Parts: sequence; structure tokens; C-alpha cells
Amino acid sequence: MALSIHDCCRRLKSHIMRIDRFFVSLLLISQVFGVNKENFKTCDQSGFCKRQRAMEPGKSPYVVMMDSINVKPSKIEVQVLNKENDVRLLLEVFTLAHNTARIKINELQPLKPRYEIPPGDVLIEEPKQQQMTVTDVSNSGATLTFENNKIIIHTDPFRIDFLANETPVVVVNAQGLLKFEHLRTKEGWFNKMGSTIKSWFSKPFRQGKQDPVPNEGEGESNADSQQAGEVAEGEKPAEEEKKKEDNEEPSMWEETFKTFHDSKPNGPTSIGLDISFPNFEHVYGIPEHADSMALKSTKNTDPYRLFNLDVFEYDLYNPMALYGSVPVMLAHNIERTVGIYWNNAAETWIDIGSNVADKMADLVKGMEMPQVDTHWMSESGVIDVFIMLGPSVKDVFYQYAQLTGTTFLPPLFAISYHQCRWNYNDEEDVKNVDASFDKVDIPLDVIWLDIEHTDGKRYFTWASDKFPNPVDMLKHLGAKGRRMVTIVDPHLKRDDNYKVYSEAKSKDLMVKTNNGVEYEGWCWPGSSSWPDFTNPEVRKWWTSKFQYSEYTSAPNLFIWNDMNEPSVFNGPEITFHKDVVHYGGWENRDLHNLYGLYVHQATSEGQLLRSDNQERPFVLTRALFAGSQRFGAVWTGDNTGEWGHLKVSNPMLLSLSLTGITFSGADIGGFFRNPEPELLTRWYQAGAFQPFFRAHAHLDTKRREPYLLPEEHMRSIRNSIRLRYSYLPYWYTLFYENERSGTPPMRPLWVEFPQDTQTFTMDDEYLIGSDLLVKPITEQGQTSTSVYFPGKGVVWYDIENFEAYNGDGSATINAGLDKVPVFQRSGSIIPRKLRIRRSSALMTDDPFTLFICLDSQGKASGELYVDDYHSLKYKNGQFVHKQFQFSNNILSSKAVPGSGSYDTKEWIERVIIVGLKKGITKVVIKSKDGEQALQSGYDSSAKIFVIRKPSINIQTDFIITLQ
Ligand code: NOJ
Repeated sequence: MALSIHDCCRRLKSHIMRIDRFFVSLLLISQVFGVNKENFKTCDQSGFCKRQRAMEPGKSPYVVMMDSINVKPSKIEVQVLNKENDVRLLLEVFTLAHNTARIKINELQPLKPRYEIPPGDVLIEEPKQQQMTVTDVSNSGATLTFENNKIIIHTDPFRIDFLANETPVVVVNAQGLLKFEHLRTKEGWFNKMGSTIKSWFSKPFRQGKQDPVPNEGEGESNADSQQAGEVAEGEKPAEEEKKKEDNEEPSMWEETFKTFHDSKPNGPTSIGLDISFPNFEHVYGIPEHADSMALKSTKNTDPYRLFNLDVFEYDLYNPMALYGSVPVMLAHNIERTVGIYWNNAAETWIDIGSNVADKMADLVKGMEMPQVDTHWMSESGVIDVFIMLGPSVKDVFYQYAQLTGTTFLPPLFAISYHQCRWNYNDEEDVKNVDASFDKVDIPLDVIWLDIEHTDGKRYFTWASDKFPNPVDMLKHLGAKGRRMVTIVDPHLKRDDNYKVYSEAKSKDLMVKTNNGVEYEGWCWPGSSSWPDFTNPEVRKWWTSKFQYSEYTSAPNLFIWNDMNEPSVFNGPEITFHKDVVHYGGWENRDLHNLYGLYVHQATSEGQLLRSDNQERPFVLTRALFAGSQRFGAVWTGDNTGEWGHLKVSNPMLLSLSLTGITFSGADIGGFFRNPEPELLTRWYQAGAFQPFFRAHAHLDTKRREPYLLPEEHMRSIRNSIRLRYSYLPYWYTLFYENERSGTPPMRPLWVEFPQDTQTFTMDDEYLIGSDLLVKPITEQGQTSTSVYFPGKGVVWYDIENFEAYNGDGSATINAGLDKVPVFQRSGSIIPRKLRIRRSSALMTDDPFTLFICLDSQGKASGELYVDDYHSLKYKNGQFVHKQFQFSNNILSSKAVPGSGSYDTKEWIERVIIVGLKKGITKVVIKSKDGEQALQSGYDSSAKIFVIRKPSINIQTDFIITLQ
């Protein structure tokens, strides 16, 4: 029987759907059994990593050609020659504002431009330059100074030393591992194709599509490099032919991993460079890895890998890549902190080793000193490194913030408690969750809906049978000040009846294969395509999708971007093929780690547009890169409900915090498996003191909302969540500080105690701000823990009972199931709100209690920042920022210089003073409203002095005198 076209299509469609289901089931099954390491490359399986890692120290073929030097007010340009193949590179050394330097190395005359991240996308703008003084230029090198820093360029072998106050702190190419794979033509192919192609190839690359000048925006750079190079355009081919090629290897021109073929049309393009930190023993950063905070030697392992990948149920304590990549590293010792930012979005591997600084013997005049050697290897792009010279860690945070920006102050609900699950099934389910929290008196700000809420995984739609009235549902939540977050992934179901897809298709917005057709792969909806978010026009189009006319929603609905590495179930390493083509003709290989950032950015901008730039957005992302902090929060992906995963959440979040990604959290309870109530309870206790606080669980897990747990565990969890709400004013103030200075709310101890070497590798306890010390319980059955208290002369007060612990020592703290070991530092004032309600919005007008812990001199200080907690009006000065000081028995509250004004109803209802020595008989408050005696008293059982009802609005400056 002959089949009609219609039948054929139907059958084909049903086959395709079966294949889709097969892939999705395979993925779900594999999720149950944990990470399959076979899916992910080792360095040996990655051609470029293997080639770069094979470099031997001490054999650098690179020399600086001093006769080509070109000195500008804040930049030196000079050629660097590879003696082995005669390829010339152009080295640029920039001195920048804020104690920062930058080096760039590119081919002097690449066959075509190499990828550089467009300024404005990661770097917020072209960094401000700072004038340098060149003190010495000779055949052996050049020396320049800026601020208190010196940069010495050595010629043979090429090396650059960075000295701060005459102390060497960073050395580039000390080991001689610089390897720059120049662009070349594929010999056999090239010869066969003859002269037509040859002439085509020597033309500027992709004419009309991409500006061939790499440093767009810098203006001077093209002309400058001409001058430094002194080789005219027409001479290129001759220069090319002169080059001796490196040893050719098969992996240079194509590669196969498992069944996946990588066509590598540009051949080998990788870059590698070693960066040493003399006099340092510890380096930190380069998230995202499920590993300790202090980075480990990779002598016997693979290098740390930065390549955004969907690695579900990841293994712990190894350097495998995860969802995000931040190529930022900090080195810290008792004298200083320095940092580097490797501005490259291609796959990157980083080796770490320790050494004695023998290579820099000339620098340290015979002295032996420890040194950390690092080796950075990226698959393409150019070498572009920022060197942040501190000297303090807070200086480094600030310096990095000047480069890539900071997290804007989150709306208050975003730092409150979030309840998520894959999935809350329907409107009834949502209503039940909402009501159940109220029944057990646990505050809740946000309920989340995962992929099942959509119509067949078509994002921006609702499954109408389960969510027939989303706007009513949102209104119902809104009545209690609650919000909702829905998931919007970047893959689009290839269904012509799905408006978002058909629009993107007709506007030609998708990522393409290297044959120029729409890239297709599998994800949750089955056959999918991906908008090319690297294209600004695509991002603009995406922002329009959040308008109420496009997406049935309401102002209390916010967004979650998942799978944006991107995850492609049937792709190599579960992601895009490296040779897919993006805007401007660039391969995914060039910019892979940026795709997720662009999705996050477009979504965040979509929310801004929705509110006409009035309201702060909230978007959670899984994939991230340097700069992602500007667009919202991140979480650490698919962890597991096991004790080890709870424990590793602290170092993971600390590493993110150190590298600018300050609004981060881990799935409370673990995404996979069913955590026992004890583990869940301990996880809530930790999460309550981590920046982003969200419980989440896999589709196949048992329901585990706090109200379903045995009474004992539910009470403990309630206590932790309520504690979080009581500290929201402190968190909010810290996030405001973070926006302005880059200093993260969650901090390793050494950030505040930089000379305490015991803290340098400590990642099982940490600080929130400078004043709260947290030691979460992360072991099963644990009922006590040893807490290290930093700071000689500092006293740490248990926040629950004000027991005092002396700094510079450890103590054993009882920590039954109810206990979260948290301590307030002497000398601090922390504002809290103690009237806990159903959501943070309902607490907006509530009063503060000031907790004052005095130091040995009877002094303390602290800050409080207040605004409307949701809009962008604070950017126009609508906020109140107060400085509290306690000294000589006087508490004062004054506006911080530069503070704006905001008409809040918030007031102070109580002041609690810990550590007050003298007997006080009279307390008086003075302000512009007059003078008044206040009730007060000493609570001898709690060892605190309590001042009741100052009843003063927080906007008003005041003085409270204790007599
Ligand atoms: C993977 C995410 O990591 C997880 O949090 C989410 O629940 C699932 N995708 C389904 O959307």
C-alpha cells in the first residue's frame, strides 16, 4: 500500500519522537547512576592540552626583539620572536589604573584575526590606563614603573617580572612554557587547491562580516601594531612562506572523541603561558570545581579544567570541569594578595605546581623562597592577562571589580528563602506548598517551577491543563509578598507551531553547523536548536520575550536559566560541537565559556525591559563566566544528597566568592537522592548562612519540603530559616557593600585575618561579612565541633547564648541538631529584624534590633543599608546608609557620607549590648526630636544589657548615652 506524504511525515515524526524519548530516558537513567567520566575528556584526550602540557621548562624559544620597541605613555609594544619557527608575536604591556597591569600577546601578523572577547561583554569597558615611566631600555630588556610597581621585560629568554614595592610578586614565562600556535594553512589541502584559493586565503578574513582589527574601540591599536611590526600588508605571504612549521600532529587538523568528530578547520590555534607567584604558597579561585578552596598541585592529576559542561552528580575533589568557568586566580601570603585574570573564553586547562624560586635567582639575590607555578593553556584566542597587584585582598577585589563589574544589589526576596523542586505539578500543588509553609510558621519568599510547568518544554508557555490561570496563581502568591520563578532554558523545541522557535528560525537567529545550517541537537524538548546569544541582535530579540504581551506572567515572576553551558544531550561532552559557528563566523571553540553568560545577560535585560528599567531583575544561571556576577545569581548545579556534597558546598562557594561570583548557592538537600532528615537539617543550617538559599530536588526524589519532616527536624529547619530572615538586614548591607567594592559577603577567614597562616587553607568555616563566623556541621552524627576563632585579642560571641570565645585559638562547641555554630565578632554592631513573618516583603516596615558586641576597649561599629528593597531607585540616591559607633558608653547613628535619603518606616526597637562592664543606671536618647530617657536593664542570665524602645526612625541621626 502506498503511503501518502502526510502518513510519511506522521511516521517520521513519531520515529523522531521515539528517538527523543530514548535520549531523554538515557539521560535520566545516567543521572541516577552518577557521573560518567567517560563522557568527558582528559587532558590527554584533548589535542591542544596534550601538546601544551608536553612543553618542557627551561627551553623557551622566545626572545624579545628590542629593536622593535615602541613606547607609549601607558603601553609598551615590542616583538617577540620564536627562534624555532621564525614566527613573530606582538607583546603589549599596559599599565592601568588601580594598581593593575595587562599583557597581551598575539601573532604579529595572523593569517586572520584571532578571537578576542568584545570589550563591554566581560570587561565592562576598555580599562582606564595609567601613565608609566620607562626607566631603562637596553638589549637585555626594558624596565618601567607605575605607582609603586615595577615591570621588567627580559629579552632572552623572554620573561616579565612584576614587582610591587620592589618585591617580585608575579613572573610571566619564568619556566619558559610560552607556546603560541600560530595560524597556518593545512599543507596538503592548500597545495592541492592551487593558486585561486591561495589568493583568496591571503585576503582579509571574512570581509564585511567581522572587523579584522582585533582591538576595536582602542583606536590606536591597528596603526600601532603596524609601527611595531614594520611589515606592510603586502608582505604577508612572503613572511608566511618563510615560517618553518612546528611538528605536525594528526590531532592538529581534526580530532575525534568517542564518536564525535571535530573538523578543526583552522588547525592548531592554542596558546599557553606559565605564570609564577614568587613568595606565595597558596593560590585560590579558577572555579568551578568541586574541590578545596586552596588549589592543589596537579602534578599527579589532570590540570584544573575550565570548560562549561553539564556534569550531573559530579565527583568530589577533582579538577574536572563543571558548569562555570572563571579564569581568575588569587595568590595570598602574610604580606599581600595579588590576582590575575586570564581574559580568554575558550576551553582552558591550568596546571599548578609548587617550586622554589630558583628561576628567579637574579630577582631574589640568592634567597630561597616558596613559589607557586601555574601553567595556563587555552584552545584559541590570544594571550590577554590582567595582573592585579593588590596589595590587600580587598584591593584585589576592587581591582577586579573595575574590570568585570560587580553583582548589583539583589532585591530582598532574592536573598531570602527559595523553595524549588522538579516539579511542583500544578496550581493546586503550588497553593499547598504556599499554605503549608504558613501552617508551620516557616517564612518563604519564592516558589519555583521547573520544566514540567511548560507546554511540552516550550519555554515562555504554560501547560494549560496544569496551570490554567498562571496570573491568578501569581496574584495569590503576591498577596503574601511571595514571588515565583519559572525556568527558561536556551534550547528551543524545533516545532514550527511554537512561536518562539518559528520566530527565531525565520529571523535566522540560530547557531549554525560549520555547513551553515541550523544546528540541531537533543535536550529536554527532544529535537532542539539554540539561539545564538553571542549575537547582540539575538539578545535584543530575547529580551522582548519577557514582555507581558509575549509571556503570560506578572511582576512577581522571575526567571531561572538552566542548561546554558549549553547542555546538548547528544553532543560531544554533552555540549555543542566545537566547530559550530556563531555570529561573526567565530567557532564555539573560540568562545564556548561565554555562551551561558550571554543567555543570563539577555534574560536579565529582558526583565529590566519588562519593568521599563524600574525594577531589579532576578535571574539564576547554571553556566557562568567572569562577569556573570553582573546579571544575577548562580548555583552549583546537580549535586547529590550526600554528606560530602554538603561539605564541598562551602569551598565551592568560597572559590566563587573570591572571583567575583558573590551571589551563589548550592541546592539545599542535594539535587539527587533522598537525603535523610539529619543531612537535610544540617544542609539548611549551612544554606541559611550562604549567599543564595534555595532548596531543590530531582524529579525522582521523595518530597522533602521542611513541613513534611519529622517534628524534631522541621523545628531545626524552621529555626535556621528564621535565623536567615533575622539577619537579612546584615546580608542586604553586605550586598550593597559588594556592589560598590567587589568585596564578597561570604569570605574565607584570611580575607579579614590576612596574616593568620592557619586560615590559609581553612574552608570548613568562613565569615559572612567581617563580623559573623560560621562553622556548619557537615558530618553525619556529629554533636560537637572544633571551631577555630581567629584574631588575637578578638572575642567571638555565640549568637545564641553569647558565650564568649577568645580569638587565636580553638574551642569545642556542642552542636546538637538544633545548633548552628555562628559567632559574632567583638567590636561589631549587627542590625537584625526579630519579628519574623511569612515573607521578607511583609517585614519591610518592621523594626531593627541592634546587636552590639563590645571589644576589649568597649568599642564597636557597624553599618545598615536600607531602601525600598526591590526597585532601582536606590541608584538615584533613594536609600538610607547608617554608620553606628559605640565608644565611651555612647552609641551614635550617623548617615554615612554620601548617603541618600529614603522615607522608610523602619525604626529601632531594641539595642542589645554584649560585654558591657560598668553598671549602667540611666540611658538617654538624643536626636533632632529632643531628648528622652529610655528603659534598660541588665539580663544577668543572658549576660546582655538591653535598651528598650528607642523607637527612633532609622533615617534620624541619634546618640544614646549610657550613664
Ligand atoms: C538540570 C538542572 O541542574 C536541575 O536543577 C533542573 O531541575 C533540571 N535540569 C530540570 O530542569
